[in-house]
Amino acid sequence: MTHTTEGCHWTEKYYAPGDVRVRGDFELYFQPKRISAEVEQTLKSITEYGTEPETYLNLACGPNVQCLRELLEELRLLRFVCGDLNPSFVSYLEEQFYQEPVTKDVISNFLMIDMREDFQPGETFDLISIYGNSFGFFDHTTNFNILERCYRKLNPKGLLVVTTVDFDHMCRFSPSNPLSWENVLDSEEGEMVRQSVRYFLPKENKSVCEYVTRQGSQILESGSRDLMIYPLKAPEGEVSLSTMAKQAGFSRLRAFNLPENDQTFGLMRKLQFNVFEK
Ligand SMILES: C[S@@+](CC[C@H](N)C(=O)[O-])C[C@H]1O[C@@H](n2cnc3c(N)ncnc32)[C@H](O)[C@@H]1O
Repeated sequence: MTHTTEGCHWTEKYYAPGDVRVRGDFELYFQPKRISAEVEQTLKSITEYGTEPETYLNLACGPNVQCLRELLEELRLLRFVCGDLNPSFVSYLEEQFYQEPVTKDVISNFLMIDMREDFQPGETFDLISIYGNSFGFFDHTTNFNILERCYRKLNPKGLLVVTTVDFDHMCRFSPSNPLSWENVLDSEEGEMVRQSVRYFLPKENKSVCEYVTRQGSQILESGSRDLMIYPLKAPEGEVSLSTMAKQAGFSRLRAFNLPENDQTFGLMRKLQFNVFEK
């Protein structure tokens, strides 16, 4: 089952355009340690695989310019595309990018991209990243199609890097799902409180987050967000990142644990870094 809100997928509401800085989850996008760890592991994987990417697609890029800057410093990129469903994120990112002089000769493109669709037809890349736990938002078939599309959009010897929640740490060994939190959003105009409970449905590989924002006794917003969290490996016949990688055509999948992310209290505390080799 895919949770929908008023006829659309929850992501379309949750990631709807708006001011980045007033979002309740602002801190998720601006976690320097988490982002540096993702970039560092990307660079290591590139060296180990023996590739020199010249073209890069930053899929579900979000608003933070940090990974782009760090990758540009280390790689000799000729062209990059940053794409996100949320046009406010894309324009914020573009604005931040051009706030500092760009010393490298690189063709840049900041676009609204829905990864469920056939984005950038005809274009291919040496490196594609889906950072910050942005994979698994949809039903299994859609998630698989995204993976397969990335495969097709990679040049020979291309790399796809995807950060996911560390299934073993956050789900397999915590099946009762201890993740719940409460935070005060705005204490000036009366207490506005956001509460979330997250639990995991092991049979469906699904993590469900039920949230409510209230001010006093009034409920301002409530809803539910699902995320598929796949194990790296699973018993025969069960779905895993490894089986999906194989079915999509990748020659190899390797996974690494990223350092504990102490800049968040939520699901992204323990991340796994997946490297899909074409
Ligand atoms: C948790 S954020 C991660 C952002 C960024 N990659 C990072 O590491 O901070 C998830 C991102 O996925 C984007 N997103 C959600 N659905 C998408 C879709 N269908 N196509 C492209 N981006 C999508 C959101 O707008 C948001 O920027």
